[in-house]
Amino acid sequence: MSLLEVSNLSKSFSTRRDLLGRRTGWTHAVRDVSFTLGAGECLAVVGESGAGKSTVGRMVLRLIEPDAGTVTFAGEDVRAAKPARLRQMRRGMQMIFQDPHSSLDPRMTVADAVAEPLVVHTDLDRAARRRRAVELLDKVGIGARYLGRYPAELSGGQLQRVAIARALTLEPKMIVCDEPVAALDVSVRAQVLNLLRDLQEELGLAYLFVCHDLALIEVIADRVLVMKAGEVVESGTTSQIYAAPSQDYTRALLDAVPVPIPRGARQA
Ligand SMILES: Nc1ncnc2c1ncn2[C@@H]1O[C@H](COP(=O)(O)OP(=O)(O)OP(=O)(O)O)[C@@H](O)[C@H]1O
Ligand SMILES: [Mg+2]
Repeated sequence: MSLLEVSNLSKSFSTRRDLLGRRTGWTHAVRDVSFTLGAGECLAVVGESGAGKSTVGRMVLRLIEPDAGTVTFAGEDVRAAKPARLRQMRRGMQMIFQDPHSSLDPRMTVADAVAEPLVVHTDLDRAARRRRAVELLDKVGIGARYLGRYPAELSGGQLQRVAIARALTLEPKMIVCDEPVAALDVSVRAQVLNLLRDLQEELGLAYLFVCHDLALIEVIADRVLVMKAGEVVESGTTSQIYAAPSQDYTRALLDAVPVPIPRGARQA
C-alpha cells in the first residue's frame, strides 16, 4: 500500500451561465487521473498552464471536492472523512503554495505563523510552541533575528522558507508543493529547491510536486506525471521521461526548459 493512492479523480467547473443562472458551459479541469505516491517519494506533476495540476493537488487535500474518484492517504479514505477527522488527517498532509505573500497572514510575526498550527492541533503551551517554531525556522535557514518580523519585511525566498517551516510544524508525511519556487527570483530558486530536497531526505517526506518547469524537477522528482487538458498523457521515472519522452507534448515541455539548475548545486 502506498502512502497516497489516487484513483480516477475527476473535476469539472462550470464556466458559463445563461440569463437564468443555469450552468451552460463546463471545463473538464481533471479527467480520470490515477497515481500513487510512496512514503518518502517525490512525484512531479507537470504540464502546461491550465492542464489541471493545481486542481489535482487541491483535490488530494480535499481543498476542492472531486466530482468522482477516490483518494486514500495512509490507508484512509480522504473523501469519506468527516470534518473533524479530515482536520486530523491534514496534520499528515500539508501544502505549500506558489506565492508565499498570499499564504502567510501579514499581521502575524514569522514565529507566530510557524507556531500557529500547534495552537489548533496540540495542547503545547506558549513557550513550547515558541521553541518548536525557533527550531523549525532554524531548520529552514531563517535566523533568530527574524522571529519577530512580519512577512512584509522578508524577501520572497525567506517567506517561502517560513511557509515551508509552517508546513513542517505538525510533522506531515506528505507535502503538496504547488509551484513552490515559480514566483521566486531565479537566483534563489535553486536554494529553496535544495532546501526542499534536503528536508525530504532528512524527514522522509513525500512530495506531490506540481511544476510546469521540467528543468526544476529533474533534481528532486523520482517519478513524473505529465498532464494535458486535465488528463495524464505520460508517466514514468524522471530519468525515463528525460531520456525518452514518448509524447511530442512532453518533448515540447522539455525543450521549453529555460535555465537549468545544475544537479547538486548547493548554496547557503
Ligand atoms: N475555481 C475554478 N473555477 C472555474 N474553473 C477553474 C477553477 N479552477 C481551475 N479552473 C479551470 O480548470 C482548468 C485547470 O486549472 P488548474 O489551475 O488546475 O491548472 P494548472 O495546471 O494548475 O495551471 P497553471 O500552470 O496555470 O497553474 C483550467 O482550465 C482552469 O481555468
Ligand atoms: Mg496551477
